[in-house]
Amino acid sequence: MDRPPLHLAEVVTQGLNLVLSRYSEKWKILRRAAQAILTPQASARHLPIQQAEIIQLVHDLLRSPESFYTHVQRYSNSVILSVLYGKRSPRFETPETVKFFKVEHEWTTLLETGATPPLDYFPFFKIYPRAMGEVETERLRRGEGNGSYVEELVEKQKELELDREMLGYLSGVLIETGSETTSSYLQSLILALVAYPEVQKKAHEEIDRVVGQHRMPRLGDLEHLPYVQAIALETHRFRPMTPYGIPHYTLATEEYKGYVIPKGSTIFINAWGIFHDPGKIAVSSIDFQLYDDPENFNPDRYLLTENGTKPGVDGSNLRPTFAFGAGRRICPGLHVAQHTINLSIMNLLWAFEFHKAVDPKGNPIEVDTMDYLSGLTAKPRSFKCRITPRSAEKAEIIELEFLNATAMLSKFEFDLCPEDQEYVAKLRGLAKSKV
Ligand code: HEM
Repeated sequence: MDRPPLHLAEVVTQGLNLVLSRYSEKWKILRRAAQAILTPQASARHLPIQQAEIIQLVHDLLRSPESFYTHVQRYSNSVILSVLYGKRSPRFETPETVKFFKVEHEWTTLLETGATPPLDYFPFFKIYPRAMGEVETERLRRGEGNGSYVEELVEKQKELELDREMLGYLSGVLIETGSETTSSYLQSLILALVAYPEVQKKAHEEIDRVVGQHRMPRLGDLEHLPYVQAIALETHRFRPMTPYGIPHYTLATEEYKGYVIPKGSTIFINAWGIFHDPGKIAVSSIDFQLYDDPENFNPDRYLLTENGTKPGVDGSNLRPTFAFGAGRRICPGLHVAQHTINLSIMNLLWAFEFHKAVDPKGNPIEVDTMDYLSGLTAKPRSFKCRITPRSAEKAEIIELEFLNATAMLSKFEFDLCPEDQEYVAKLRGLAKSKV
């Protein structure tokens, strides 16, 4: 329930960063507030904007597939900005998005072991959420609310015992945790799809059978798409977002299977080790191997057993949500995240084929599924691939659906800068000329 002491985060955020804060009264209030707004029911209320945003992602990929890496980042950031603040980012260059990625990079660099902590150099949690919060408050004053999470937090501020500072930090940390995690997950998914064409083939067959050629998938289709669900789980297993979890810290001396863990011990949830269980452990004659051929991206394992473990092995200690952590610090954003992930997998695979890129001589450029950036979360380094629509008919449907999504997207297009306004108008004009 506790996190290990992290002096930098304590000093800079005064213990108000929900992810890193120690077990304290402040953490309890922040956690309660996050849970109060991120319920499965609340996440379902935000589905229409998530559905509209995935249509823009698919449309972006149709238009300029070579920029897939940043399209995915824009999409994840826009989904989370929309559900939290009711204001979306139509472009990767949207000022809020640019600011987010710049400050996020500075923050994660500072958190890396060995970084010098220049504490004044730290605008994110103070300036960014406050600026966004002011935009939100101004809109509420104009009577233009659209049901965002921050609106709900402001309404329930007293009931949730949040002061202004806590409100700012909470909104900031939710953007941070919600944006990068989802985009890195989707980049890992695309990397795996490029490397494993046979997985795509199976998914295409399933989606074509259930959804067909003439409409884009909706979340309601998911229950009829077991292989797509298996891909979602296998991506978490293959490249877990936090390979060593976010460390926990014992509040008291604990005993586990005869081992004594003293009070004040840092505990890593070794998600990588568990998901990539190497087989026989040298000091023991017991075969602990949980997964068959764990280095292989093979969603079928989740059709064989609930947790993807080798048939006959006891995987009952695992849960399908294990990639989201465990215990009282488990990720409170998992319902929002799962909706984004499921909508993305269905729609990306309905619309596209993901291939290796080719060099000027026509030879395929191999992808390296282990080429990841360093840091707390697992983000693949930018890579090349070729993304092509599966049919001309699907390309037309995407243009049409993109136009139809205008009504929903524009509800979240408040106070866009002139460049953004010009951009959305141009994009919609182009789509109109194609249908
Ligand atoms: C692919 C998507 C995501 C993954 C894989 C993920 C994974 C995780 C993991 C592993 C933890 C640490 C849990 C632990 O300590 O045991 C965590 C914590 C957290 N996540 Fe997520 N997350 C995702 C998306 C989100 C989203 C969309 C939000 C917010 C809307 C969010 C908000 C948080 C917060 C606030 C915490 C800290 C909770 C605490 O320490 O009390 N996450 N997440």
